[in-house]
Amino acid sequence: MRQKIVVANWKMYKTIAEAEDFMKRFPGEVSGVKDIEIVICPPFISLPGLSVLMKGTSLILGAQNMYWQKEGAFTGEISPLMLREIGVEYVIIGHSERRKYFNENDLCIKRKIAASFAYGLNPILCVGENFEQRSSNETEKIIREQIFSALEGFNLEEHQLPKMVVAYEPVWAIGTGTPAGGDDAEAIAIYIRSLLREKWGEVSDQIRILYGGSVKPENITEFTGKENIDGALVGNSSLKENIFADLINAVFRERRV
Ligand code: 13P
Repeated sequence: MRQKIVVANWKMYKTIAEAEDFMKRFPGEVSGVKDIEIVICPPFISLPGLSVLMKGTSLILGAQNMYWQKEGAFTGEISPLMLREIGVEYVIIGHSERRKYFNENDLCIKRKIAASFAYGLNPILCVGENFEQRSSNETEKIIREQIFSALEGFNLEEHQLPKMVVAYEPVWAIGTGTPAGGDDAEAIAIYIRSLLREKWGEVSDQIRILYGGSVKPENITEFTGKENIDGALVGNSSLKENIFADLINAVFRERRV
C-alpha cells in the first residue's frame, strides 16, 4: 500500500524568523498523526535552521528547486549535493511557476530529475495543463508530453522508481481558490498511472501521485479519499501552522475510519 504524503510548498513566503516560528509550533499540532509523510519545502535560506528544529520530529525536509550540477560556475544556483548536506530528502521539480516565470523547459526538468536520483533525492515531478490547454481538450496530451519528456533518456533502476512522486497541479487551479473536482483529479491520476505503467510496468504502481491546486482543510479528503491520489502538494494552506495541521489531521482522521 502506498503511504500518504502531504507536501507544503511555501514558495517565496516567510523570512527565516517566520519559518522558524512556524516550526516551533507546528510539530505539536500534528503530534498525533501517524503513517503520513509530512514534507516541508521552505525557501532555500530557511533549510538549515528548519533542519535543526525538525530533528526529533517525523517531519521531512524538502526543497522547491535545485540545479542539476554538483558544483561549478553557476551563479545563484543550489546543487543537489548542498541539499543533501542539510538533510533534504525531497525536491520539487518542474513546478508550473518555474516553467512559466523562469523558462524551465523539458530538457532542464529532465536533467533535474536525473540529478535528483543520482544524488539520492526523491523528486516530486509537477505536471499539469493551463486554462487554454484545458479549454481545447489538450489535458491528456500535455500531461503525456510532460511525463515522458521528463523521464526519457536515462535508465532508472527498479528500486529508484518508487521514490519518485508525481504531482498533478492544473495551472488554472493554483492559487485561485478553485480546485479541480475530486473525480476529475482522480481521472487524471488514473491516466498518469497508466502512462507510468506503460513505461515501467507494475513497479510503477508504487509511485505516489499527488493533487495540488487550492487544496484546503475543507476539501483535502475529496482528493485523498480517491484510490489513485496519494496526497497533496499544498501552497497557501500550508503557510499557517494551524490551517496546515487541520489539513493533515483531516487526512489522518479519514484514514482511520
Ligand atoms: P495553492 O495551494 O496555493 O493553490 O498552490 C498550489 C501549488 O502550487 C503547490 O505547489
